[in-house]
Amino acid sequence: MEKKITVLPGDGIGPEVVAAAIRVLKVVAKKYNHDFQLAYAAIGGAAIDQFQDPLPEETIETCKQSDAILLGAVGGPKWDNNPAELRPEKGLLRIRKVFDLYANLRPVKAFPSLLDASPLKREVAENVDLMIVRELTGGIYFGEKKRSETEASDLNIYNREEIERIVDNAFELARVRRGRLCSVDKANVLETSRLWRQIVEEKKEHYSDVTVEHNLVDSVAMKLITNPGHYDVVVTDNMFGDILSDEASVITGSLGVLPSASIRSDSFGLYEPVHGSAPEIAGQQIANPAATILSVAMMLHYSFGLQEEAAEIERAVNAVFEDGHYTADLVKDGGIALSTDEWTDKVIAEIDTNFVAD
Ligand code: NAD
Ligand code: IPM
Ligand code: MN
Repeated sequence: MEKKITVLPGDGIGPEVVAAAIRVLKVVAKKYNHDFQLAYAAIGGAAIDQFQDPLPEETIETCKQSDAILLGAVGGPKWDNNPAELRPEKGLLRIRKVFDLYANLRPVKAFPSLLDASPLKREVAENVDLMIVRELTGGIYFGEKKRSETEASDLNIYNREEIERIVDNAFELARVRRGRLCSVDKANVLETSRLWRQIVEEKKEHYSDVTVEHNLVDSVAMKLITNPGHYDVVVTDNMFGDILSDEASVITGSLGVLPSASIRSDSFGLYEPVHGSAPEIAGQQIANPAATILSVAMMLHYSFGLQEEAAEIERAVNAVFEDGHYTADLVKDGGIALSTDEWTDKVIAEIDTNFVAD
């Protein structure tokens, strides 16, 4: 198979974890005889420094020529006091919007060998396998913003079409998983949530094979930690999904293992770890590349339909954890931490048995 991928390393640990993930992608390409052509482009702080724009036109054009995008992370203290339009995060929000990537899939799976790294009790965290479906191109992130000396506002706005399409995605996923959907809102206070809840109720008539519950976001924030095994598919708006997905990472032991796919109705998609640019550990080769490597697996699955190749990456990551190899974020009690590249070497050796690290 021939595919074009735009690679956007971004800022902080972004370039390190993306380099690791690309090494894994290349090994998979070789093993399964695929031709993945890579085009690198700038986003975020790196793009501001080079082009005075967090999402240069050139980058958009490169993405348009490709079948999928792999992104590291954006942001860092260097740009934190920039005006809104010149913030790295603006580049990320714009690329999601420009490409209409409205459905953000954030799977949360507990790796058995990482259970000791989770602050949760083993019996609470084990067997967790849930999917957060986060609306990604609407809501308070994109509503009108105003600011004066004395007042500021962010409009939280959703229309029917925006809610219907993400809710449909969530129902479709639930029906091929365990048939359970939890819709998360704040319908006791917010009008957007009341519309959201009404649409989920309407849609459920068409998905009689799916069991639906509505839950308020504050209570889900609690139950996600006390009883994460309860959840299968969780569908929610842009802001709640952002917060709940970082919270859910605690179940797995580290934010460094959570991948994500931002997709739309065709096969095009953007793949990125859930975590950010972690500026305080950037450039030290200590970041966990698992989230980005698993994001590549999601790309193979969702954009290219390469299920076997995607499963092979997941198997390799799991095997490396099972063998007791971890980066610093997962090491406990004086254990030895591998560097980003050393840990990636282990994953590559799982996929290519002839591989010898130098
Ligand atoms: P963060 O996700 O970067 O880091 C949170 C914590 O997790 C830190 O302690 C960090 O060291 C750790 N961590 C994150 N990823 C890790 C990894 N792969 N391996 C090991 N440890 C890891 O969140 P933050 O510190 O709140 O934000 C830092 C910057 O990243 C900000 O500028 C923010 O806007 C940006 N950000 C970007 C994205 C994105 O590009 N998708 C997502 C979140 C935050
Ligand atoms: C994420 C990030 C982004 C978001 C930021 C960096 C704009 O936190 O992808 O989870 O809030 O969507
Ligand atoms: Mn986030």
